[in-house]
Amino acid sequence: MRIAIPAETDPLETRVAASPETIKKLLGLGAEVVVQSGAGLASGITDADYSAAGAQIAKDAAATVKDAQIVLQVRRPKAASLKGAAEGVVLISIMDPYGQDAALQALAKAGISSFAMELMPRITRAQSMDVLSSQANLAGYRSVIDGSGEYGRAMPMMMTAAGTVPAARIFVMGVGVAGLQAIATARRLGAIVTATDVRPATKEQVESLGAKFVAVEDDEFKQAETAGGYAKQMSAEYQAKQALLVAGHIAKQDIVITTALIPGRPAPRLVSADMVKSMRPGSVLVDLAVERGGNVEGAQAGKVVVVNGVKIVGDSSALKLPATASALYAKNLFAFVETMIDKTEKKLAIQWDDELVKATCLTRGGAIVHPNFQPKPE
Ligand code: NAI
Repeated sequence: MRIAIPAETDPLETRVAASPETIKKLLGLGAEVVVQSGAGLASGITDADYSAAGAQIAKDAAATVKDAQIVLQVRRPKAASLKGAAEGVVLISIMDPYGQDAALQALAKAGISSFAMELMPRITRAQSMDVLSSQANLAGYRSVIDGSGEYGRAMPMMMTAAGTVPAARIFVMGVGVAGLQAIATARRLGAIVTATDVRPATKEQVESLGAKFVAVEDDEFKQAETAGGYAKQMSAEYQAKQALLVAGHIAKQDIVITTALIPGRPAPRLVSADMVKSMRPGSVLVDLAVERGGNVEGAQAGKVVVVNGVKIVGDSSALKLPATASALYAKNLFAFVETMIDKTEKKLAIQWDDELVKATCLTRGGAIVHPNFQPKPE
């Protein structure tokens, strides 16, 4: 059984799908593992590190995937790049499948069995495979580090002989995994932290981290959580009320961190250009939702934009912690791969009726099999 780890091809990607630790574990399952030369460099992992862990090093992508039964990646590769792999090769990655019909069709046509890690159900058994959580947690931490790096002042209150420095005020919008870590990190740095979310369950979580909760708590708010624990799209009326409350609050903040997402939809717009204008020059907004359309008007992915002296940071993410992000992502992948292998026979044995497999499998046997991504009739 051959498992391949090609290098990532997106120039912005800094992560890699295996660490020396997971290579050893994959070998322990009876696999041979081939890593493309240089695949781990951006995460600080050299070819020698991979070799020492027992992997073979291949010089290019084609040599890496040749005859592979499983290919592990961070981002969805082009179907053509898996040419030469074994028939029905299993591809596991973050697939970003929404609105990607042509790419999914190409994977199906190539006979690839593809699995999207981000569709993993959030059940206890799959917690160790939850890439959304492992990466969002790091993004939340990094957002505060980036926000404070751009802010020209100190975070904690300091009483010095030369005068007192006030604590920074940080407002976190969206309190899922990333937002909770942002609150915890901001508190560790000594900031005064407030936070908002549309899910009522977050109020207690915010308060338990020593921050203050700010939201319009009407009847709609009390029911704004799906059975899966995600946010619902809020009514225009609620959004207007929330915007009014938030507008007054934002004007007094030093750093605003936004993390609000709704699965399968564009990110909700929470901060308007007028709200940005209301902030003091030198204040900072960090938009973690920027790749999904952005919570902040004017945010640009991969850039820091300055509007009237206010910085809008659009380049904060787990990608800026590549070594840690890769280590955790590789562990997530290993936990899933382990469920697909028969350890006695040392071969691939996918349980197609397993709920984790059913929830994540996008393409198989020449077709798109996931019910949420069926091609639209012409
Ligand atoms: P997410 O990344 O989908 O969204 C981030 C946050 O934005 C959410 O808290 C959401 O409620 C909030 N949001 C959406 N629209 C908003 C708006 N208009 N204004 C303010 N906030 C808004 O969420 P994430 O981090 O994936 O977490 C979703 C849920 O899943 C949470 O309840 C989390 O605790 C839960 N979870 C459960 C796990 C498990 O049981 N294994 C593991 C990880 C998370």
